Amino acid sequence: MQKNVSLKPYNTFGIEAKTDWFADIDSEEQVLTIIDDLPQMPKLILGEGSNVLFLKDFEGIVLHNNIKGKRIVDETDNDITIAVKGGEKWHDFVMWAVHHNYGGIENLALIPGKVGTAPIQNIGAYGVEVKDVITEVHTLNMQNCLPNIFSKTECQFNYRHSIFKLPENKGRYFINEVHFKLTKKNHALKTGYGAIQNILQQRKIIQPGLKDIADAVIEIRQSKLPDPKEIGNAGSFFKNPYVDEQKFIKLLQKHPEMPYYKTTVTETYKIPAGWLIEQAGWKGKRFGSVGVHPKQALVLVNYGEATGLEIKNLADQIREDIQDKFDITLQPEVNFIG
Ligand code: FAD
Ligand code: EPU
Repeated sequence: MQKNVSLKPYNTFGIEAKTDWFADIDSEEQVLTIIDDLPQMPKLILGEGSNVLFLKDFEGIVLHNNIKGKRIVDETDNDITIAVKGGEKWHDFVMWAVHHNYGGIENLALIPGKVGTAPIQNIGAYGVEVKDVITEVHTLNMQNCLPNIFSKTECQFNYRHSIFKLPENKGRYFINEVHFKLTKKNHALKTGYGAIQNILQQRKIIQPGLKDIADAVIEIRQSKLPDPKEIGNAGSFFKNPYVDEQKFIKLLQKHPEMPYYKTTVTETYKIPAGWLIEQAGWKGKRFGSVGVHPKQALVLVNYGEATGLEIKNLADQIREDIQDKFDITLQPEVNFIG
């Protein structure tokens, strides 16, 4: 356990914030010991810090999840269920699965973060959400130290949502292991996204395999999302908003070119927040150390020495502007700490 540690290397926004105490967690026993020894001390679980914004120093202890390991839980001719420890890097797990020809997560290549965080906001990209392959989420209850296993249904997965995002559950469960059921053959490849199709065509790939899809997704992501090692960011700052049919029709009459997605909720449509923010004139704007990325308006960036409050201030201004111009309330995807 270290005292008075800078969290700058531990958040992809690159925000300078300090924590009173910092512990690299390699085992479940270590979590239980910390809960036993420091029952009153505020605790923050951190993976790769790719979905957090520190607004001030953290007065407590950061538990940096590094619990590693994988094991096969079940296997048939058609599929395999793998238990993966929460401290494994998500992208490494994806590439391991692709290498072994286990299908289901190839579209989620290059998403930053740890395996243990993936269920929290039900990470998703290019037509796949992690809920599609999760069977169980194993946790340690931070209040009573007991193990708590959540079935897929109990997780209440939805777009960028799960039971772990509910305010009453914030910090309550340490996700130590996630179970994934992946296909061994007859993979259900998701190649519907235009950008994926274009790359496969360019590469003259007619019968793509898992690696072809993962490679295409990696290329698309590298072409539009800033690499946090170069420019601080946390991916999409806001969620894409849902609007009802009445509002949707009004918007479409005014902006016939507006992109949208039909949702599984009847008479509800999802509008890309990046499009709204671009229409409102924010794309590429820079204000000192903070800005809106020139290639993806949904990504707010730290050009150097920004504080968390400066980023939040920009986000608040964008939110108000979108409310005024479109009568749509944007909800942050990023978790504010402080
Ligand atoms: P952290 O930022 O470390 O933590 C996030 C939250 O979870 C915090 O509240 C933390 O306290 C809590 N937490 C962390 N670990 C645990 C645990 N083991 N148990 C309980 N609570 C925990 N997301 C997508 O869905 N799709 C994308 O395409 C995508 N693209 C991105 C691109 C970039 C460039 C970046 C920077 C981010 C992107 N994200 C995307 C967001 C991010 O990658 C995911 O939210 C990821 O799951 C966060 O993982 P993490 O380990 O970094 O979480
Ligand atoms: N768009 C604009 N201007 C912009 C950005 C986007 O007009 O500046 C338009 C695009 O032209 C396109 C539409 O908005 O028609 C959607 O854009 P894109 O495909 O880039 O995806 P997104 O909706 O902005 C979502 C996720 C991403 C995920 C991608 C790919 C959310 C909040 N974001 O972004 O996830 O990688 O789809 O599936 O759902 C993240 O969560 O951090 C994240 C990066």
